[in-house]
Amino acid sequence: MARKKIIAGNWKMNMTPSEAVELVNTLKPLVANDEVDVVFCVPAIDIIPVVEAVKGSNIQVGAENMYFEEKGAYTGEISPNMLVDAGVKYVVLGHSERREYFGETNADVNKKVLKAFEHGITPIMCCGETLEQREQGVTMDFIRQQVKVGFQNVTADQAKTAVIAYEPIWAIGTGKTATTEQAQEVCQGIRQCIAEIYDEATAEAIRIQYGGSVNAATAPDLFAQADIDGGLVGGAALKPDFGKIVNYK
Ligand code: PGA
Repeated sequence: MARKKIIAGNWKMNMTPSEAVELVNTLKPLVANDEVDVVFCVPAIDIIPVVEAVKGSNIQVGAENMYFEEKGAYTGEISPNMLVDAGVKYVVLGHSERREYFGETNADVNKKVLKAFEHGITPIMCCGETLEQREQGVTMDFIRQQVKVGFQNVTADQAKTAVIAYEPIWAIGTGKTATTEQAQEVCQGIRQCIAEIYDEATAEAIRIQYGGSVNAATAPDLFAQADIDGGLVGGAALKPDFGKIVNYK
């Protein structure tokens, strides 16, 4: 069975609540395409107004982070129940910016992935190498570790519904997209890794996105690759261009 493409915007720390509603209203008609899953991953404070603004459309709402505890004395954090109650269906976990600026480890990401599944939220787990790692030839070793630790104790049935975003750090926000060959090679390697952890059926079902300077010009080739099931889009998700990415065919 063919995997449905999933094209997600990662708004990062952009858009106030009122700007968010305005952006949704601009993008709504441009991203109306039921052939793909369309997800807007937005800042926590924008979730409630965005869930309201996307009502009746094909857009689903995701969060950009989540804590792995249920509740309690964790000032400033957002729990899985809060996200579920607000109408969130997806959560970006382990983005390289969270790892780099907020010290998130593979073990933290794993706890969050398990919590997301426990609450019926689909994780979009990010992985990706630095330029140095690519040049040292350890790209796949590094990513395999991120995936293997990130998926510890995740069942095959859960993994089948998960999304992994391969985002080479050197391609994020730099305008430097990985070549389609580079992106396909790593996404295929990630699928192979999932097959080793679980089985072929799980590897065939899991969706793997590419992310890193995806734009309307690069999306068609990237998304045509056998192991690339869509994209996680930063900068271009804040512009009408996102409509072209969603309608890449
Ligand atoms: P970018 O960001 O598209 O702006 O490179 C992608 C991401 O970090 O998810």
